[in-house]
Amino acid sequence: MKALILSGGKGSRLYPLTYTNAKQLIPVANKPVLFRVIEAIRDAGINDIGIIISGGENGRRVSDAVGQGKRWGVDITYIEQDAPLGLAHCVHIAEDFLGDDRFVMFLGDNVIEGGISELISEFENSADNCQIVLTKVEEPQHYGVAELNPDRTIKQLVEKPRNPRSDLALVGIYMFDKHVHEAVQKIKPSWRGELEITDAIQWLVDQDLIVHPYIHRGWWIDTGKPIDMLAANSKVLEELTPKVNGFVDRDSQVDERVFVEQGAQIINSIVRGPTIIGENTRIINSYVGPFTSIYHDCLIENTEIEHSLVLEHSALTDVPARITDSLIGRNVELSHSELKPRALKLTLGDHSRLGLV
Ligand code: TTP
Repeated sequence: MKALILSGGKGSRLYPLTYTNAKQLIPVANKPVLFRVIEAIRDAGINDIGIIISGGENGRRVSDAVGQGKRWGVDITYIEQDAPLGLAHCVHIAEDFLGDDRFVMFLGDNVIEGGISELISEFENSADNCQIVLTKVEEPQHYGVAELNPDRTIKQLVEKPRNPRSDLALVGIYMFDKHVHEAVQKIKPSWRGELEITDAIQWLVDQDLIVHPYIHRGWWIDTGKPIDMLAANSKVLEELTPKVNGFVDRDSQVDERVFVEQGAQIINSIVRGPTIIGENTRIINSYVGPFTSIYHDCLIENTEIEHSLVLEHSALTDVPARITDSLIGRNVELSHSELKPRALKLTLGDHSRLGLV
């Protein structure tokens, strides 16, 4: 089997972070979501992987970060998509890479509990033409939704229905055989101008091909929005095996569920788990956690922060209020100034969101 990872797209719901980085490279628990996807695929025994990247700078950032796949023992082929024309469009442009092989398509911004090994072996050993993964969600109108027949076969798939007929959403992991190539040729763009993968799968259902619904019972998060990033970060942190590879001084209290990476220093601080402190990051006179990931080469000094994600090379010093539920990008400086006038000095990217006390 082969794998196709979708790592193009605009990532507009994560502006401004995605102006200067691909959303799939944003780390949860200090590892880019895309790396977690590659690991899940490798662990399921697949090592021939195609990655869809956007034609712009973010595409280059993905290929620079991932390389040829040696680190994971896999072979990576990049497929450039000129514009984000939909998930089914990705299958269309990957046809040469996929050939007649069965494959798994995995959205590069999705995180799933327990990996995909079971899913892959179930599909590999079946005569199914397609396998989709469904999970119960609270607001199905925001997802691709599947309606099942009483015998558990698929009746209908609808992308973001106004009046959903079921609460079973399509998780961003799909398995196909070669019939999908005809499906993506036959369908037409939707009202939003995209070739929808739900329409391609509906086409397979309408041709009486076998589309098997697999119900996933663990958690699954699509990290499209900041709040989803924080939710995924919390879930992954809870599963992390804690370890202290850095330095913790005697005046600090670091509880059991904290991962301190190499070269990190924790001085006179309290760190509550689950939390991860990245390589060469310094935490000084501060309170950090729970549910917080501070990436590498950061400084947190005289500051309190919880339930947040901080990316590399950022410095938060003397921040006068506790930071919570926040997603802070790279090379950010946030500090308190005693200078007059007593005013806020801001350099915020387009689409920034700031909650002041
Ligand atoms: P989405 O989250 O649906 O789209 P997006 O990344 O453009 O985000 P936004 O809506 O915030 O602007 O995409 C799901 C995944 O599929 C994501 O990893 C990006 C990828 N993708 C492509 O590679 N090509 C595409 O044409 C589309 C629509 C998505």
